[in-house]
Amino acid sequence: MKSQDVKEIKESVRKHYADLVKTDESCCSSPTCCPDPETDNPAEKNGYTEAQISSIPIDATEHSFGCGNPLAYADVQEGDVVVDLGSGAGIDVLLASQLVGESGRAIGIDMTPEMIEKARQNAEASGAENVDFRLGEIESMPVEGESVDWIISNCVICLSPDKHKVFEEAYRVLKPGGKLVVSDMVANNMPEWARTAVSVWVRCISGALPEDQYLDSIRQAGFENVRVLSKSAYAKMRRVEISSVKVEAVKPA
Ligand SMILES: C[S@@+](CC[C@H](N)C(=O)[O-])C[C@H]1O[C@@H](n2cnc3c(N)ncnc32)[C@H](O)[C@@H]1O
Repeated sequence: MKSQDVKEIKESVRKHYADLVKTDESCCSSPTCCPDPETDNPAEKNGYTEAQISSIPIDATEHSFGCGNPLAYADVQEGDVVVDLGSGAGIDVLLASQLVGESGRAIGIDMTPEMIEKARQNAEASGAENVDFRLGEIESMPVEGESVDWIISNCVICLSPDKHKVFEEAYRVLKPGGKLVVSDMVANNMPEWARTAVSVWVRCISGALPEDQYLDSIRQAGFENVRVLSKSAYAKMRRVEISSVKVEAVKPA
């Protein structure tokens, strides 16, 4: 992809999520979230339990834009370090902070300043002290190498114009034996013209790779045991199939 296109995509993604989080409309203008604006909290639709939803500030769950609940697939332990790629308003970081406890740390990375600000407000409201929200890009993570037990992410890597770099960075920051567990969008049979439509890219669609390419990109970064843990159809338009997948991969010990 040309560097001008990368720049345009990143700017559009940043603006889209800054605008979304600045409104009080929660996530309903994003197709990966509640399609019915009248439905309840979007986190319910994305598989979070009532106990999880009620344990963190409502502002974090109402401004959630994910396509799943990645922590439901990760056996995070007390003392672990968790990094959430594209942490948004903080839903998964705040939930991870409860699992890792005082001896662990939950770190969110997001390139949109308005999201980082919202996440920090939510962290303060929750009283969590073992969290850290860092402004930065997931293609060059502001995180020390081999310092992390878990990488999680929720509907973000599909937005990156350089997914391979994201997986290389995830590999770099994970400790040997560390795991990547992500919820993300994949799209099979997407026509070429639709792959570059920025207005659809920002909604997690155009940038979604075919499933086999997504998994290959993770393997090429060095990960092993790359597997799909679950998959649910999101939309089907003629031959185009868009799905939400939960994927796990391990950095060899
Ligand atoms: C669909 S929202 C998901 C937010 C959050 N994970 C959740 O579940 O609510 C995508 C988020 O990823 C961030 N993002 C997108 N591309 C990014 C990149 N290349 N580097 C860092 N953050 C990125 C956006 O700013 C936005 O906050």
